[in-house]
Amino acid sequence: MAQTPVKVTVTGAAGQIGYALLFRIASGQLLGADVPVKLSLLEIPQAVKAAEGTAMELDDCAFPLLSGIEITDDPNTAFDGASVALLVGAMPRKAGMERGDLLEANGGIFGPQGKAINDNAADDIRVLVVGNPANTNALIAQQHAPDVPAERFTAMTRLDHNRALSQLAAKLQVPVTEIKKMTIWGNHSATQYPDLFHAEVGGKIAAEQVDEAWLRDTFIPTVAKRGAAIIEARGASSAASAANAAIDHVYDWVNGTEWTSAAIPSDGSYGVPEGIISSFPVASRDGKWEIIQGLEIDAFSRERIDASVRELTEERDAVRQLGLI
Ligand code: NAD
Ligand code: LMR
Repeated sequence: MAQTPVKVTVTGAAGQIGYALLFRIASGQLLGADVPVKLSLLEIPQAVKAAEGTAMELDDCAFPLLSGIEITDDPNTAFDGASVALLVGAMPRKAGMERGDLLEANGGIFGPQGKAINDNAADDIRVLVVGNPANTNALIAQQHAPDVPAERFTAMTRLDHNRALSQLAAKLQVPVTEIKKMTIWGNHSATQYPDLFHAEVGGKIAAEQVDEAWLRDTFIPTVAKRGAAIIEARGASSAASAANAAIDHVYDWVNGTEWTSAAIPSDGSYGVPEGIISSFPVASRDGKWEIIQGLEIDAFSRERIDASVRELTEERDAVRQLGLI
């Protein structure tokens, strides 16, 4: 193997997304079929043994690209020299917990992890936050990593993007590959806005190929509440599809794409307050996300983008008040 292995750190590695994710990373799907990887699994002490079990299975796959596995409960060790960090482990919402409690609990995780990334990661570190509330957890981690360029902290809305592709493809009876320029705006939450006014199917605007009632009353809520529907059906939150979206996000970030959705720090584009980590239509060029500019936003879209962005600014204000950023 000529190339130096790239260190990829996965937090919450013993969880259900971790189990769906690690084997795909090790097989070369995250970075490319010719890029050797070294995996670092970060877990809480109680789950280290389970992570060791997953590592045994990774060994048993004899992946040609997997050059080593490290398992630790110490963030400084886990992120030491890492070029990709997938922050999956988070505190799930429990009965009786308010949103503020959830933000506070996650602040206790993502603040120290952001600092450990700041102090130990490689210069080219790229961070994807999957653990919910993903956008605000990414903001917390970023704010604890002043030496890392701010745009290296991103949150995942690619699962929402893929869900939107799949719902529209089913409605129009076309392959997903015929759909271009899909966009998710805002927060990875029920307020997100999947936008069909810029999406194209067969070269024509998607919104003009479906009736308005379906777009408003079926498409948008189905995509936005899909996470809850999966929990209801499966008795557990999405895992394989979330892992798949994480792979898509990082692969495109590193290898380039002309159009997808990712939550990245706002530069003020489209009236989204600078600094919050919000989903936009993005391209990836030379290993950097760029917000696609120049889209006309009509009143219908404006109202929905604003509502989701408002939720993000409220989350930012709440974590500020809690002293987490
Ligand atoms: P899970 O409960 O199966 O696994 C989470 C793992 O994280 C556990 O093994 C736990 O021990 C670990 N963990 C907790 N605190 C940690 C810490 N401080 N450091 C390292 N590890 C820690 O959960 P899951 O199903 O794998 O989901 C993980 C997160 O991803 C949840 O917050 C979930 O809501 C979120 N999620 C996000 C999306 C998205 O699209 N952004 C989609 C699906 C799930
Ligand atoms: C999802 O979108 O599947 C996850 O974020 C889980 C959830 O709580 O919706």
